[in-house]
Amino acid sequence: MKDLKNNEPNIFVIFGSTGDLTYRKLMPALYNLHIQNLLPKDFSVICIGRRDFSNEDYKENVKKSLNKFSGNTFDEGKWEKFSLIFNYLKLDFVNDKTYGSLKNSIDILCDKYKYQENIMYYMAVAPEYFSVIAENLNKNGLVCKEKGIKRIIIEKPFGENLKSARELNEKITEIFTEKEIYRIDHYLGKEMIQNIMAIRFANPILESIWNNRYIDNIQITSNESLGVLTRGRYYEKSGALKDMLQNHMLQLLTLIAMEPPTSLDTESIRDEKVKVLRAIPKVDEEFVKNNIVRAQYLEDKGKTLKAYRDEENVSKDSNVETFVALKCFINNYRWTGVPFYIRTGKRISKKITEVVIEFKNAPFVLYNNENNIQPNLLVIRIHPDERIFLNLNVKKQGNENEIIPIQMDFCQNCHSVVSAEAYEKLMYDAIRGDSTLFTRWDETEFSWKFVEKISDIWSKRDIPLYTYESLSNGPEEMNEFLHRKNMKWWDF
Ligand code: BG6
Repeated sequence: MKDLKNNEPNIFVIFGSTGDLTYRKLMPALYNLHIQNLLPKDFSVICIGRRDFSNEDYKENVKKSLNKFSGNTFDEGKWEKFSLIFNYLKLDFVNDKTYGSLKNSIDILCDKYKYQENIMYYMAVAPEYFSVIAENLNKNGLVCKEKGIKRIIIEKPFGENLKSARELNEKITEIFTEKEIYRIDHYLGKEMIQNIMAIRFANPILESIWNNRYIDNIQITSNESLGVLTRGRYYEKSGALKDMLQNHMLQLLTLIAMEPPTSLDTESIRDEKVKVLRAIPKVDEEFVKNNIVRAQYLEDKGKTLKAYRDEENVSKDSNVETFVALKCFINNYRWTGVPFYIRTGKRISKKITEVVIEFKNAPFVLYNNENNIQPNLLVIRIHPDERIFLNLNVKKQGNENEIIPIQMDFCQNCHSVVSAEAYEKLMYDAIRGDSTLFTRWDETEFSWKFVEKISDIWSKRDIPLYTYESLSNGPEEMNEFLHRKNMKWWDF
């Protein structure tokens, strides 16, 4: 664990403190850190919202949300102490004239508790406010680095496309340095996603076969059974491509494909991840036509679930994809010739996030049986269980030379210890000033370049949008670009 103790903020300012994200994710994360004594000793939270709440009203809401979302760790006694760190502040954050009251609250806390002005700002608001808030903070002298450290945590989406991401970045970097900016991708806070590097680089036996000589293909899946719920308005502008692929899926790809970094230092890791994105070949129309399938969900068989086009705030003739599957390559020494299959969709039969490494078959067939020998597979399951398993083949007990598949399995959350939620880990790291699990600008920019090219081609060319029944396994067409006749997407 990196020792970053004196790098910690005293004041944590949350913009958007009455929103869903704060109640569901941030508060439980802070509370769980509090009960493990992992919050800084001197620590206050200023919760900014536009609603007319008293401090007591707000605390009551936080208490309710903790009861619901803190994963059974809620304890009345511990809550009493935790609740003392909150200060609700009503503020119209688009209006720079109102920031005097924030400055005032910060001054009061600094006076009362003898804090340094070490401040961490969290943008849990709609993306169009990220830069407005940063500018207003700056105008009002709230980003003064001489008085103490300043950090800003920015939720996704970081921009709506390449242009807006660049504009946002320009504005934010006029005020905060790259090291002070923490761009969140909550997938990086997931226990098993952090485990990918450990699995690869702490096991030489695996790393020596982690290449195009031994691996046939790699499949990365993140499917959900839920639909767009109440987020139709946002989703109409993003679709699965921008909502999931631009960030979470490409982050997974980089961790699976990166070279070993020279150390576990933040920038060494990020450097290697960016190299993977750089090595993805250019996207053109041919690539999009032959290697990508997009689709949208219909009702389910029993007609109890709505089709995407009937969801709230979704246009009746929407062409937005709720599923995307693609095949891409990474052109470098290690990976040339190995297809990476990536798929993500809403309203698929089950919620699952996992990576399947399919190894090449034996060069010579010694054993054969009616079922055909299964390839060796290494599966890293991120959700619902945190598990890693290896599919091997053995001889079935008995007199015949029959080969059967078996599984060597390790599950880290099946029996006892429940892993920390992604936000808990990310908050902990941001507080300590460790930005390894946050995305650097060049990672964000490369992933936007890749995704934007695809969405441009979709919008200008006649590329089909397929459909799939809700709670099915996705559109049939996703099987068409698999590189071998007898190959399949693995579903466990
Ligand atoms: C979010 C997307 O980033 O990730 C959502 O905006 C999606 O649409 C969610 O549902 C999936 O996250 P998880 O952790 O449930 O796999």
